[in-house]
Amino acid sequence: MNKTALITGASAGLGYEFANRFAEDGYDLVLVARNKAKMEEMKKRFPNLNITVITKDLSNPGAAREVYEEVKAAGIKVDALVNNAGFGLMGKFEELDIVKQSEMISLNITALTELTHYFLPELKESPNRARILNVASTAAFQPGPMMAVYYATKAYVLSFSEALAEELAGTSVTVTTLCPGATKTNFASVANVEKTKMFSGAMSPQEVAKQGYQALMSGKRVVITGSTNKVGAYAAKFLPRSLAAKIAKYVAKEA
Ligand SMILES: NC(=O)c1ccc[n+]([C@@H]2O[C@H](COP(=O)([O-])OP(=O)(O)OC[C@H]3O[C@@H](n4cnc5c(N)ncnc54)[C@H](OP(=O)(O)O)[C@@H]3O)[C@@H](O)[C@H]2O)c1
Repeated sequence: MNKTALITGASAGLGYEFANRFAEDGYDLVLVARNKAKMEEMKKRFPNLNITVITKDLSNPGAAREVYEEVKAAGIKVDALVNNAGFGLMGKFEELDIVKQSEMISLNITALTELTHYFLPELKESPNRARILNVASTAAFQPGPMMAVYYATKAYVLSFSEALAEELAGTSVTVTTLCPGATKTNFASVANVEKTKMFSGAMSPQEVAKQGYQALMSGKRVVITGSTNKVGAYAAKFLPRSLAAKIAKYVAKEA
């Protein structure tokens, strides 16, 4: 029997690339996002795999529970959980729509946390080594003026995931946090950051997903993609937080 990977945000960008990596390794897939058509295409690409598409807005209250119940009703056991769905918004906190910012918190934090909670018991029971991949960002390492809520959500993802990795040490479940820097996906247009300095050296989603997948499969706890991003994240650990915030504000300006 094939192993199964559940991937959120699988209709585009990094999630779509993760779905390809798992499929190439023979995993059955559960794909979750709002755009059904893009996920259905995956069935044509991998006709030999069992691919389940769940169309869901994960920012809605209770959405994670609904996904869990749909997966259980289909009799599927999950061996790998990829919490990838997320979005950002650029602008001054006071000027950005609070409803959209709350939706971001619900998707980037609440859905990720709840899905992890619901699926953890069966991941621990998996006869295989089970894997959780949580997608944070290099935004996790410092405060981010002009994207204050987004950076804070990613700091949460990193902190939560590293803590969970330690709680699960010695079990068969590993937790990996992926911290990409700017990557050429729809993220930039959704967040309105396409013209900023931070996006001038963006990586390809294929390369980021490849590095994240390798780290996941080797059980690494944290992976930062790209050498410039690694240096930036390392430097942020030693800089005063106020200075790191000034640098983040600078790279949020137009290139
Ligand atoms: N690209 C970057 O520069 C970058 C850098 C660091 C971290 N990240 C993180 O990487 C992750 C993936 O982003 P990406 O770059 O691949 O962006 P993307 O191309 O915009 O893809 C985002 C994915 O999330 C899904 N999604 C968005 N809102 C959703 C909702 N309410 N419910 C369910 N699914 C939803 C989208 O599908 P639907 O629209 O079909 O729902 C899509 O599949 C995010 O967590 C992002 O924060 C990205």
